[in-house]
Amino acid sequence: MPKILLIEDEAAIRRVLIKILTEENNTYEVEEAVDGLEGIEILKDRDFDLVLCDIKMPKMDGVEVLEAVKKIKPEIPFVMISGHGDLDTAVNTMRLGAFDYISKPPDLNRLLNTVRNALDRKELVVENTRLKKKIGKNYEMIGESEAITKIKDIVEKVAPTDARVLITGPNGTGKELVAHWLHQKSDRANAPMVEVNCAAIPSELIESELFGHVKGAFTSAARDRAGKFEAANGGTIFLDEIGDMSLSAQAKVLRALQENKISRVGSDKDIKVDVRVVAATNKDLQKEIEQNKFREDLYHRLAVILIKVPALKDRREDIPLLVDFFAEKISNEQGVTTKTFTPDAIELLKQYEWTGNIRELRNVVERLIILGGKEVSSEDVKLFAGK
Ligand SMILES: Nc1ncnc2c1ncn2[C@@H]1O[C@H](COP(=O)(O)OP(=O)(O)OP(=O)(O)O)[C@@H](O)[C@H]1O
Ligand SMILES: [Mg+2]
Repeated sequence: MPKILLIEDEAAIRRVLIKILTEENNTYEVEEAVDGLEGIEILKDRDFDLVLCDIKMPKMDGVEVLEAVKKIKPEIPFVMISGHGDLDTAVNTMRLGAFDYISKPPDLNRLLNTVRNALDRKELVVENTRLKKKIGKNYEMIGESEAITKIKDIVEKVAPTDARVLITGPNGTGKELVAHWLHQKSDRANAPMVEVNCAAIPSELIESELFGHVKGAFTSAARDRAGKFEAANGGTIFLDEIGDMSLSAQAKVLRALQENKISRVGSDKDIKVDVRVVAATNKDLQKEIEQNKFREDLYHRLAVILIKVPALKDRREDIPLLVDFFAEKISNEQGVTTKTFTPDAIELLKQYEWTGNIRELRNVVERLIILGGKEVSSEDVKLFAGK
């Protein structure tokens, strides 16, 4: 049942409003406050789905209440109740973030409509912030080491440009995370980011995967199909594990990068695409170039900006922050209260090799949360970290 907080100094008006809002089909739960101060105290204490507030009140007027509510619980819709004399003010409060206003004496239909609309809006806002948080949180980059700070700086500077970025670094260090960050912080954030794992696609399929094909281009091509470059138009394409791409696919990608156009397999028609390219690899591309496994010209096209993500063992000072971060995240996911780690448990974790880097650390923290005591101790680490 939606909960409404009614802040109104006139008892008669409160009675009318409560009657309308709680009668028969209008099953709202209404709580009353006789002035702004009391209203704010109640609001700090409990959650509501809507605030209905008189504009003219002693002690604190409706505008001041609105400003306070926007600070403490900005997601709650706020509806002003306005008398004859202050209709203009009521209208103006919508600029301060009020959802709507109703006038006294309250008209039944208008009141119920406004309340319904405000509640609908709240659901939307809450859902949006939940989604935003989800996106924001997933790609949060934890760390205050010099190396991570430097990477964050580069991302801030480079993200808004269309410069191509090559991200290198060992397994599980956060290359994919950096790529998502680049996209999220770019002007292309509302357009798609299309990921292609070049290592997972068989070499004879990669061209069609990237550039699409026309019907009949090969035996199984039953119809025209767009590729990832076209799907990413306006956004970002993330070529992950680019070091594993075949030489023939590399040649095609090179052309796409040089000319900003592609053609589907089996067609010679050019298609213009506007795509920002971000690539990543854990291979040493210089070595691959020496061994003629990677095209040097492609390397230079991709690595306009080079971001090297360091191994975890080269930034051990980030381990305590990462452990806290993962402990909270994993506990949340499992619906248990957040477990803490004793200082010597963290100290021990700081000393390990972490060949699997952050991915490995995350897995170990997960194991320790499941298997360790209420507070994870160094004994737990010795027993369960698998080190
Ligand atoms: N700085 C960081 N803060 C928080 N989480 C991180 C950080 N770096 C990596 N992670 C997490 O660690 C895991 C591995 O990261 P990611 O997949 O980005 O690594 P990768 O370098 O692409 O690995 P691979 O080379 O195996 O593809 C992910 O769950 C990611 O969210
Ligand atoms: Mg990766």
